[in-house]
Amino acid sequence: MPAKVDMDKIVSLCKRRGLIFPSSEIYGGLASCWDYGPMGVELKRNVRDAWWKSIVHERADVVGLDTSIMMHPGVWAASGHIDSFTDPLVECKSCHLRWRADAVEGKGCPKCGGELTEPRMFNLMFKTSMGPVEEEASTVYLRPETAQGIFVNFDNVITTSRKKLPLGIAQIGKSFRNEITPGNFIFRTREFEHMELEYFVKPGTDEKWLDYWVKERFDWYVKLGIRKENLRLRQHGKDELAHYARDCYDIDYLFPMGWSELEGIANRGDFDLIQHAKHSGKELGYYDAEAGEKYVPYVIEPSAGVDRSVLAFLIDAYDEEEVEGEKRTLLHLHRSLAPVKVAVLPLSRNEKLTPLAKEVFNKLCPNFVTDYDDSQSIGRRYRRQDEIGTPFCVTIDFESLEDKQVTIRERDSLAQIRVPIEELGKSLEAKLKGEAFDASPLWATRDK
Ligand code: GAP
Repeated sequence: MPAKVDMDKIVSLCKRRGLIFPSSEIYGGLASCWDYGPMGVELKRNVRDAWWKSIVHERADVVGLDTSIMMHPGVWAASGHIDSFTDPLVECKSCHLRWRADAVEGKGCPKCGGELTEPRMFNLMFKTSMGPVEEEASTVYLRPETAQGIFVNFDNVITTSRKKLPLGIAQIGKSFRNEITPGNFIFRTREFEHMELEYFVKPGTDEKWLDYWVKERFDWYVKLGIRKENLRLRQHGKDELAHYARDCYDIDYLFPMGWSELEGIANRGDFDLIQHAKHSGKELGYYDAEAGEKYVPYVIEPSAGVDRSVLAFLIDAYDEEEVEGEKRTLLHLHRSLAPVKVAVLPLSRNEKLTPLAKEVFNKLCPNFVTDYDDSQSIGRRYRRQDEIGTPFCVTIDFESLEDKQVTIRERDSLAQIRVPIEELGKSLEAKLKGEAFDASPLWATRDK
């Protein structure tokens, strides 16, 4: 498997197979905006669901939240985003392209070599106005992180959830940043989706919890199929910490353009709750009944991007191999992430095969995301499923009409087994839960 694949190959596969399209393409596209197609929407949903399952559903110490994108402007004054959520920007005096000052090597414009202006601080928040009157008082911002929706609801959640600390509050949702240099496909965009956990702990236990969450989050990517050698941990230097952070680790992934941040896990200390208490006038503390004391919790924040995770999963899964003299492109996506779990493929579009194939499809689709495809040659249809990472193809042939059995083909090994239609659902369920393909009890009792 290639450790690194050309980004162009990923972009092209995404377009060809309905994963990701340029936004507003018929109008020439809109820079840094992308649309998820029929396969992409499933993949993205699976990434979100895998995160939510491991962070919220499989834990008793985390609850979920869904807050509004537009919030009271006071939130962003308190959080420091109005003053500090800035990047240094320089502009080329000849071609007028704008660059992040810290990303420019040398003195001239990276495009034309022209003279650059002095850096000025550029705020990354998108501004809009609320209501029919465009005036200063109606200015609101599109949130640049989902975290603040969690902090301002800390008291609501603590008093209604009847949970004790340590307690996490998790949120998935859109964030917006007017990035100066977006790019690398869906790696850096101006509209993206965050998966954020704010984990509130007793001060003094924060370093232990930071270590805990760094490990948890690293292991999550590995469990979902990312090769360990393509991941690394990097602690932030004091000079690069965000304005709210006491400490921070990045989980970096080896993207085609080099090692880049996949997720950040920060120790935000009590910065946010103290700031919101000061600006709102509402006390935001926690009474620890066991210790008999009151304190402002510290916060550990694993913050990941849905889109950037999707990209890393796609890149790591991408593979090309030669099978019987032909090139086969495939995605070795983890079965829980694959957009389609099972494809039902009648050998040909034949009036005798179609009713049985439809019957099989109808049986499977309430339980698995199932595709039905009877167009073109069976070889082409397998290739299409391989390219979107479908773990199992079920083929219905003329023998199936007689013996009521079908063939399951496994994506990675290309191994095939034949199972009775009656047992197909159970067999697929076991395999999608991780049962080895040829270790099935059915397989063991059947002629190979
Ligand atoms: N609340 C903390 C926070 O937002 P961040 O390091 O700025 O921290 C966390 O962002 C994650 O969000 C990043 O590691 C990345 O996965 C994703 N992300 C941030 N900006 C992004 C952008 N412009 N496009 C796509 N993903 C982005």
